[in-house]
Amino acid sequence: MTRHFLSLADMSAGALREILDEAHRRKKARFALPKGAKDADTPLSGHVLAMLFEKSSTRTRFSFEVGMTQLGGTSIFTSAGDMQLGRGETIEDTARVLSRFVDVIMLRANDHGALVSLAQNASVPVINGLTDYNHPCQIMADLMTLEEQGRDLKNLRLAWVGDGNNVAVSFINGAAKFGYQLVISTPTGYGPVGQMVERARAEGAQIELIADPKKACAGVDVVIADTWVSMGDTDIDQRMGDLSDWQVNEDLMNLAAKDALFLHCLPAHRGEEVTASVIDGPHSVVFDEAENRLHAQKAILLWCLSK
Ligand code: CP
Ligand code: NVA
Repeated sequence: MTRHFLSLADMSAGALREILDEAHRRKKARFALPKGAKDADTPLSGHVLAMLFEKSSTRTRFSFEVGMTQLGGTSIFTSAGDMQLGRGETIEDTARVLSRFVDVIMLRANDHGALVSLAQNASVPVINGLTDYNHPCQIMADLMTLEEQGRDLKNLRLAWVGDGNNVAVSFINGAAKFGYQLVISTPTGYGPVGQMVERARAEGAQIELIADPKKACAGVDVVIADTWVSMGDTDIDQRMGDLSDWQVNEDLMNLAAKDALFLHCLPAHRGEEVTASVIDGPHSVVFDEAENRLHAQKAILLWCLSK
């Protein structure tokens, strides 16, 4: 069966654990090498990755492209608007055609449904580079960062503060798989939608919804923020107003555990969802988190290609 990486909800806990272990191993093995140098075993030699973007990206684009180089493969980047896809060619036909040219496809899509259609019609693995629904590659890098800091995921209490967006969904989907406790703190109307929390709880996830950010952050090991306005959101002024009490600032961080860590997938907006004193302060590990996109995604690529 083709191994797609679309949602943590579809993955087994064992496969996710293997991916994180491989990411740690590879990161250590290439310590101090120049960034363009190949890993010693070049496991993806001869393999090509297609990277399709319907939305902007810095980290996802660079980490996948550099990751393929380090694994010994190559990659082709295109914005979806530059493809015939942008002129109405179907995602189904795009999937069939690209499957004849490349070994694996990464898509950043506006609509999660387009990603699912791509995977259903591709004969090669498809990786989710973010959709309106979720961002599973990001969470793998985030969890890798926490482990690198010596934290045991099973003993952690994480607080998500702000908009219950695509990144929050992947934290929900990962909770049962990795065993961390998750507190979600959002204003009314910004919480995770649908049955996803119930579904995760049915699988054993420990998830609490606590609207008050101060109560949500009390004693937690990790505080997580993300932008109040995700790509594709148009109600900017409304969001700024509704989310203003969910800013992660020093007062909020001081309620968390003394050695609490701060995560943010970036890009960040200092003075909005997080203050400069927090994101540039002693609790923050956001640049390790950004770097770990590279290492986590290399392990995801290898899992997808059964290498
Ligand atoms: N965190 C993240 O996905 O960043 P980019 O949008 O820059 O890829
Ligand atoms: N929630 C953000 C994440 C960006 C990496 C967005 O979708 O824009």
